[in-house]
Amino acid sequence: GRTPVKVRIDSERCQGHGRCYDLAPALFAEDDEGYGQVVGDGEVSQDEERAARLAAANCPERAIEIL
Ligand code: F3S
Repeated sequence: GRTPVKVRIDSERCQGHGRCYDLAPALFAEDDEGYGQVVGDGEVSQDEERAARLAAANCPERAIEIL
């Protein structure tokens, strides 16, 4: 089967640019201060994998890790 893919945000790097939750709202949300946070446990379904990679590629701080 498919190896599960997970996303995480390195909170040390995140500066709140918001690309992640704009591009992949099923995977990322905005916290009270506009910083990105992972929705749920961060597990990425096959359908969302493209969006996860797009978000990671568009984070100016390279704060999104795909595991
Ligand atoms: Fe933060 Fe990057 Fe998203 S800076 S809010 S993880 S686009």
